[in-house]
Amino acid sequence: MNLEQLESTAKAMAAPGKGILAADESTPTIGKRFDQINAESTEENRRTYRDMLFTTEGMENYISGVIFFDETLRQSTVDRDVPFSKHLSDLGVVPGIKVDKGAKELAGFEGEKVTEGLDGLRDRLKEYYDLGARFAKWRAVITITEEAPSFACIDANAHALARYAALCQEADIAPIVEPEVLMDGEHNIEASFEVTSEVLSSVFEALVRMDVYLEGIILKPNMVLSGYECSEQASVDEVAEATVSCFMRFVPAAVPGICFLSGGQSDIHATEHLNAMNCLGTEKPWKLSFSYGRALQQPALKAWGGDPANVENAREAFLHRAKCNGAATTGDYTKEMETSE
Ligand code: 13P
Repeated sequence: MNLEQLESTAKAMAAPGKGILAADESTPTIGKRFDQINAESTEENRRTYRDMLFTTEGMENYISGVIFFDETLRQSTVDRDVPFSKHLSDLGVVPGIKVDKGAKELAGFEGEKVTEGLDGLRDRLKEYYDLGARFAKWRAVITITEEAPSFACIDANAHALARYAALCQEADIAPIVEPEVLMDGEHNIEASFEVTSEVLSSVFEALVRMDVYLEGIILKPNMVLSGYECSEQASVDEVAEATVSCFMRFVPAAVPGICFLSGGQSDIHATEHLNAMNCLGTEKPWKLSFSYGRALQQPALKAWGGDPANVENAREAFLHRAKCNGAATTGDYTKEMETSE
């Protein structure tokens, strides 16, 4: 295990002004995204779409790393047939791989999930390293309802995240640890704060027990938001304050970066929230950045619509969101950026 390499990978992923593009939708999930624009989800179309994002000129100025799904890590650029992982690492963008096998029903706890994929992971990580991956991702999902989350669900997911992280580090792959508390539901921001606190505390306890090197991980959490169906929606500043104070309590200073997921937030909201956190006076021990899927891709996907004639417009839309989010990592995003180009 090369601690220096793990730490420098994690630091590169959280470099100021940059963040991570989550392009690791599983085949069924990218299928749903393509359905929205009436594009057919064939292997070639998925390659074409991802090629469009990865070969957007200048994306490396705002994107520090890209998360692939297994299929994409084995594909190459359309024009020069260079493996996507090599194309990106030549640009200084770190290639990564989603390694979990999805969140499955947790037996005995209706409606709650536990993420699977530990069996055989050591061998898969070896292969992924050889294919160029230098970081990995595992997503745990926690639901808030009247009854949930149960201690069993939080504990089982924290344990799996810690075992995954330890296996990654053994293979010199920096783990993205992603405990996502879903924001679906009517709960208020206080409930979100409380559950996120419990989850983070449990995850770090498990990571420490499993002897995971915290300097060599990236945390990918939810922000502390009001439930999407809650009648009272917290303001951007309230979200920023609640999120930062929650993380100040539960995330050790050794962690180099916290790269938020966007969840179901609109692209603009995801940028505004990140920017507001970085504008807060609080002195933070870690970098606050993004690891967005939908919030980076949605405008590009819409502009593309599966039509080769729209590729340049789609690239522009992607680069624009990447640039706005890059600015938000240093608190330099302004509303004018949305209209000035
Ligand atoms: P979203 O930003 O669309 O939530 O996706 C990020 C991700 O990779 C979830 O695992």
